[in-house]
Amino acid sequence: MHASTKLESKLFIVAIIFLMACFGLTVFAVHEFGLDVPTCVTSIEPFNQGAVIERSPNHYEIHYVAKMWAFEPADVQVRPGSTLDIYLSSVDVTHGFQIAGTNVNLMAVPGTVNYAQAKFDKVGRYRIVCHEYCGSGHHNMITYITVTDNPILTPPTQGPIALGGTKPESPEAVEAMKIMQTKGCVGCHTTDGKPGVGPTFKGLFGKTEQLEDGTSVTVDEAYLKESITQPKAKIVKGFQPLMPEIPLSNDELKDLIRYIKSLK
Ligand code: CUA
Repeated sequence: MHASTKLESKLFIVAIIFLMACFGLTVFAVHEFGLDVPTCVTSIEPFNQGAVIERSPNHYEIHYVAKMWAFEPADVQVRPGSTLDIYLSSVDVTHGFQIAGTNVNLMAVPGTVNYAQAKFDKVGRYRIVCHEYCGSGHHNMITYITVTDNPILTPPTQGPIALGGTKPESPEAVEAMKIMQTKGCVGCHTTDGKPGVGPTFKGLFGKTEQLEDGTSVTVDEAYLKESITQPKAKIVKGFQPLMPEIPLSNDELKDLIRYIKSLK
């Protein structure tokens, strides 16, 4: 046998041995320690509900659910020296999740569970912010973890998430918001009247727009449809013809127009 072929077959055997040892150890660990081997997540239960679970006095499991525009559970309190296993999901659009003073920085993605571990040694109040633009309430999407010697354990949330103080969004609005985010509309159009690269959607429906060519148009469904599918057909005075044609299905178009109509 050629020397290099010999070496290769030796290496091959070593690699196989390592692979089998690795597999064997995994099987051993599962049986011996009752470990969970991660599998494909086909359902995000039980992570679709906010919960604080005290595993031991210094070990908490926290299921965070992000939702326009709050985190559930809201104010989590833990003892100093605690380790937190944080599981994060979202029930509507993509949100961000960053804990100040730690290196925890996650995305809350609908249908997905993300995980991070954090240890809190010092007493204090740690701010969690959403750092992904998610609609008009984005800048208010804040919660806290309080590290204190006498923590009050947040009761696990039962049933569907009820968020005190936040106006529930209709499923249609959530759907439209998703379209606006995935198609990039939110980059230029606000939904709260704030100025943007393009006209705001708030109060748009029914309004009379002055156009660059000196004519005017009343914003109705036909105009919205045209503006979305052929953005350069009519340019509102004071704006640039920057918008690309957005490929939308008829359903998406319908949802979006209905949403714009609802933004009084
Ligand atoms: Cu949630 Cu920004």
